[in-house]
Amino acid sequence: MTQIAIALHHLRTLIHQDGRDDLCFHFEDLTVDCTRQPLTQDILQRLLTLAETKSLADFIKAMFAGKAINLSEDRPVSHCRLRTPDYRQSQTYQKLTNFAADVRANQNIKSIVNLGIGGSDLGPAMVTAGLAGFHDGPAVHYVGNVDPHALYDILAQCNPRSTLFIITSKTFTTSETLVNVGLAKGWLQQNGVAPDAAMVAVTAYQKRAVDWGIDPARIFDFDEAVGGRYSLWSAVGLSVMIAIGSTAFNQLLKGAHAMDNHFETAPFASNIPVIMGLLRVWHRSYLGQMAYGIMPYDQRLARLPAWAQQLEMESNGKSVTRHGKPLDRPAGPLIWGEVGVNSQHSFFQWLHHSVDIVPIDILIARKPVNLLDDAAWQASHKTLAINAVAQAEALAVGVEQAAAPHRHFPGNRPSLMVSWEATTPYALGRLLALYEHITIVSGFVWDVNSFDQWGVELGKKMAHDLASKSDLDGFSPAAKAFLNRLGD
Ligand code: F6P
Repeated sequence: MTQIAIALHHLRTLIHQDGRDDLCFHFEDLTVDCTRQPLTQDILQRLLTLAETKSLADFIKAMFAGKAINLSEDRPVSHCRLRTPDYRQSQTYQKLTNFAADVRANQNIKSIVNLGIGGSDLGPAMVTAGLAGFHDGPAVHYVGNVDPHALYDILAQCNPRSTLFIITSKTFTTSETLVNVGLAKGWLQQNGVAPDAAMVAVTAYQKRAVDWGIDPARIFDFDEAVGGRYSLWSAVGLSVMIAIGSTAFNQLLKGAHAMDNHFETAPFASNIPVIMGLLRVWHRSYLGQMAYGIMPYDQRLARLPAWAQQLEMESNGKSVTRHGKPLDRPAGPLIWGEVGVNSQHSFFQWLHHSVDIVPIDILIARKPVNLLDDAAWQASHKTLAINAVAQAEALAVGVEQAAAPHRHFPGNRPSLMVSWEATTPYALGRLLALYEHITIVSGFVWDVNSFDQWGVELGKKMAHDLASKSDLDGFSPAAKAFLNRLGD
């Protein structure tokens, strides 16, 4: 693979070549258009061969069979099981749907506040916003940051007598979340509300939540083999279920399950997650691009880049192999992004004109959902969609302006368009499962463990040591001086 000569034509030529349509992949109403990628059938075949050489098929099989593919934690990876019809028959799931239905029917509950961070926040927050058109339950808020302003500003919108807190923490040891739980309890007590009645917990470690005083009947658990950033399908999605109802939540799971089936069974040559995962590897490891952009042209999906950022960077931001040896080349790229078209008026200048080239995914639903049935509103969504394709074309094609270099667009900048009919719960579930599998495929080819996150531990330990001031010996004079400036 390292031998591939990339004497590729400029994208402005490539996109017009006969048979280019073969680089457009379809699954149900989802279309992944790779025609504006630095890709030919020959390169694609070589990437597919790379996947075969690495035995990607066996790895996928092992994941779905529940083998312990998370080597550093000696665990299976079981989030896909949460999307199966079998799981929806389980007592665990029934307990969730019953509780969500009770909350939705309870006229005394007007606000839900999810206290959680990272995977216990980003996924559900992004999906709740993404499915705003289907939101018919109480208002749902998310507080992740330990910055007290985050909680303060949300509580200012809530009535303590009609607010339910969901403490969402896989480990139930995350200090930021537990600090916010303490503040929320204080707020309830100061307003004459017993915290126990206003709090439920979601965790993989029930006993720890019980130790925090949560009634076991109000603890919703999930398997520790479900990674935090892959967990929105589990009880971590309780806030989403309360927002949209369990029927719509089932659709989210069904869409994800459809993508799981496609990933597990489609031949690699038409397997969308495999192809998109291999493209990540192509850009990073062979074309040397260290960043990758994700641009949803969908205001309700404005938090999708943040979710994908944790998903890909916590999974593949590694420097050792699955077997603990140093990597001989970098793995996952920097992932970043922003909603379109706002991003066009912010950093697209850089994408079009910078010396660096960064590939992007452009994500768009072809039709709006729950808009006024009015020609002007429908046309406005079309304007959005046209902007998306215009950017893809401009990045690829560019324009020659020899006489005015500042107006010269070099083009040849890759983008990939992912489009689907409309952002329904089913379509969103399918899209998110796709991005999970892209992460898993690329991580496997880079030979990293996409399911652990040891890299965040040191910072946590240092924050703990600084807070307890138990042993400041190893800290820099600057850190000690800052602590002094903070005061007691
Ligand atoms: O940032 C590290 C991390 O462990 C993430 O992987 C996780 O999503 C987040 O913290 C929150 O963890 P928990 O759900 O256990 O509170």
